[in-house]
Amino acid sequence: MTQPLYEADIDLGPLRTRTLAIVGYGNHGRSHALNLRDQGVKGVLVALREGSPSKAKAEADGFEVVAIEEAARRADALSLLAADEAHGQIWDDHVAGHRKPGQALILCHGFSVEYGLIDPPDDCDTVLAAAKGPGGAVRSSFEKGGGLVGFWAVHKDASGEAGALARAYLAGIGCGRAGIFESSFREEALADILGEQAVLVGGMCALARTGFETLVEAGISPRMAYIDTVHELKYIADLIHERGIAGMYEAISDTAEFGSHEVEGPISHAVRPVFQSIVRDVTSGDFAKRWVADYDRGRAGLKAARAKAAGHALEAAGRELRGLLGKGRT
Ligand SMILES: NC(=O)c1ccc[n+]([C@@H]2O[C@H](COP(=O)([O-])OP(=O)(O)OC[C@H]3O[C@@H](n4cnc5c(N)ncnc54)[C@H](OP(=O)(O)O)[C@@H]3O)[C@@H](O)[C@H]2O)c1
Repeated sequence: MTQPLYEADIDLGPLRTRTLAIVGYGNHGRSHALNLRDQGVKGVLVALREGSPSKAKAEADGFEVVAIEEAARRADALSLLAADEAHGQIWDDHVAGHRKPGQALILCHGFSVEYGLIDPPDDCDTVLAAAKGPGGAVRSSFEKGGGLVGFWAVHKDASGEAGALARAYLAGIGCGRAGIFESSFREEALADILGEQAVLVGGMCALARTGFETLVEAGISPRMAYIDTVHELKYIADLIHERGIAGMYEAISDTAEFGSHEVEGPISHAVRPVFQSIVRDVTSGDFAKRWVADYDRGRAGLKAARAKAAGHALEAAGRELRGLLGKGRT
């Protein structure tokens, strides 16, 4: 495995000589802007859409807030931290016709370049600087002296310094404290989307709901079913995070481990074809097309799916449980 780079290996120079604009002030945008400033990067601009609800927060944090067009005219590098599905529209309507010649583009996810939402011109250093994890954790881990793992890649290298910029950016947001690895837009985009759809979010939620439904159908109370299929997930996830899957097995009962080894085979067998179809759907660009089309329809599909999920019986059981727990504390 390639050795990671750490803070001491990386020169922040490419950031200090450029004016940097962060587009979007959501979970990642805010954390990146604050961490970069704390690492001594001066004059970071925050660029927001007209009427953005995030303007007051960015100003309260002490940043100069500008329109995206103004950032495109002024900045030497844009870090696009707005919602992925809006990247094509932001680029076409607010950046492409305004950008300073030679302006670099930094992305935190391979999605919009890999699936063709943005096609930067040849004078545009285009790099991936992906902090792997939720935006809030970029800030919270930094404040504790740590950082998230970072991956960098170069899509276009007009200046000959694109890689140095990506590495400096990752070090600037704190990833140099954890470790910084080289990747590619293709690898990061597929791994990120497959991971979230198949395992971390889609797969985990499907397993939890199916487990809950199966227990309730078997006559178990919703409260008990919720505890055993959802509530306890955190303890297992924490063990896996700290010790890996094999280490987690060592920390649970032999009964749980023996039974789990028996059923893992059939479960894997059942889901593997679904996972393979996700790989095909993502790499063909079909998933990106459907998601951008839904965004263009006002996220109708997302909103309907979200409402359906919120109405599941599991949620009522969880609300009731959370309302009851912890009341015995003195
Ligand atoms: N590689 C990884 O592991 C990883 C993990 C998580 C996230 N990310 C990436 O980080 C980026 C940001 O994610 P996030 O979690 O910070 O998202 P977020 O919290 O939802 O924030 C999104 C920001 O995008 C802005 N935005 C949305 N639509 C816009 C539009 N049409 N025009 C202009 N601005 C718009 C929002 O603006 P308002 O404030 O005005 O509403 C908000 O500030 C994404 O590219 C995401 O893929 C990468």
